[in-house]
Amino acid sequence: MSASQRQQLDQIAADIQQKNICPDLAKTATQLVMGDGNVDADIVFIGEAPGKNEDEQGLPFVGAAGKFLNEMLAAAQMTRSDVYITNIVKYRPPNNRDPLPEEKAAFWPYLVKQLQIIQPKVIITLGRHSMEYFLPGMKIGQIHGQPKRIPFGDGHVVIMPLFHPAAALYNGSLRQTLIDDFLKVPGVVEEIKKASV
Ligand code: URA
Repeated sequence: MSASQRQQLDQIAADIQQKNICPDLAKTATQLVMGDGNVDADIVFIGEAPGKNEDEQGLPFVGAAGKFLNEMLAAAQMTRSDVYITNIVKYRPPNNRDPLPEEKAAFWPYLVKQLQIIQPKVIITLGRHSMEYFLPGMKIGQIHGQPKRIPFGDGHVVIMPLFHPAAALYNGSLRQTLIDDFLKVPGVVEEIKKASV
């Protein structure tokens, strides 16, 4: 893990606090939940916002949806330390309500900075809240599991939209669809690596 990347990510967290981003959420949340995992990862997962467990522990995806995410990572021969996991909104919305458009917009520039530091090969959006920022106007039901190369920063990045593990957790057919899509991720990363040699 690169110390300077870690320092730059810590600086983003400090900026969010110093600029008092989403003060109403900051007041009701326990803490900022920035991200977890390998800051040199090829794959970054982006969820919606922290829930109760994440708010308490200060880490993304540590509740029921996180357990399912860990199981899918294991099925794809990966662990959390191979990837980086974050959310578009970094404070827990009260009562786990959906993040508001203005909350997502306020956090978006900080998510972009995180991604510019980590420079993943693939960004996996979990659910529509993070997908809509990278692939505006697209419908998750139509494009889930399909990698899309988009302009990003000074170059391009591949976005792979997946259903949100919390939505799929208790829905048999969605659950299998998510698992099937998830198992395609290592192959997508390999293809990108081959293409960039
Ligand atoms: N759901 C999310 O979108 N993010 C988390 O961190 C946990 C649950």
